Amino acid sequence: MTERALSFDAVADQYDEARPGYPPALFDAIEELTGRPLKGSRVVDVGAGTGIATRLLRARGAHVTAVEPGPLMAARLRRAAPGVPLVRGLGDALPLADGSADLITYAQSWHWTDPARSVPEALRVLRPGGALALWWNISDGEVPWIAAQDERVRRWAGDVHHGAHSAAGRAGNLRAAMDRTERRIPWTRRVTLDTHLANLGSHSVFRTRGEQAAAGFFADERAELLAVFPDGTVEEAYAVELTITVRA
Ligand SMILES: C[S@@+](CC[C@H](N)C(=O)[O-])C[C@H]1O[C@@H](n2cnc3c(N)ncnc32)[C@H](O)[C@@H]1O
Repeated sequence: MTERALSFDAVADQYDEARPGYPPALFDAIEELTGRPLKGSRVVDVGAGTGIATRLLRARGAHVTAVEPGPLMAARLRRAAPGVPLVRGLGDALPLADGSADLITYAQSWHWTDPARSVPEALRVLRPGGALALWWNISDGEVPWIAAQDERVRRWAGDVHHGAHSAAGRAGNLRAAMDRTERRIPWTRRVTLDTHLANLGSHSVFRTRGEQAAAGFFADERAELLAVFPDGTVEEAYAVELTITVRA
């Protein structure tokens, strides 16, 4: 477990309050592509974080077990979703029995795993015919203010993959031989400027550079966004990129 992956712990509350959820259409698509209702399904939500996806899966009637390595992310999940079974662990070594899940979900967390281990682990824990669902909320770079913000982050951070907007490296590391189905589900949400900036600030490029270093960036970013959204309400635009693989 790298320090970078555990760095989420430093922003657990901010993460839970500011990160976007997932639209109902995502869960409809999962049901359609797996051919099975979530209601009554045994779901393992890996890299569950503070439980943003866990809670939505549960609201659809799934029996969810959460798996999360970070102690503070897990603590927030326990408060936000009391009663959800939670095990501390990694997708690379799932602390779960063979064939015990109908569905394994990774909401924005698959890229933190080592696919040489997490793929066989998912196949082991899924029952035959069970499905692995990976998804990410990707900011829509076709929207001009999002493209401009992306450029400002890159300028500030150096030309790194900053995790806030791009889809690099996502489901591509599934075994080439594994059949998969993909869906793209566009959606938007309207949030206060403060929530939007807290959401942006919870991404790894800011977490790992420290609060002080980021303070100047965020003061400038607030001014840039107020010019676009003078009433202080930001419309964030996303597409959820979903990949489903069914175990033979
Ligand atoms: C971007 S967050 C996603 C949280 C949550 N699924 C959601 O939708 O908001 C990624 C989570 O993956 C966890 N994580 C990091 N490395 C992991 C690994 N190897 N296996 C499972 N989870 C991991 C982190 O602790 C963090 O909580």
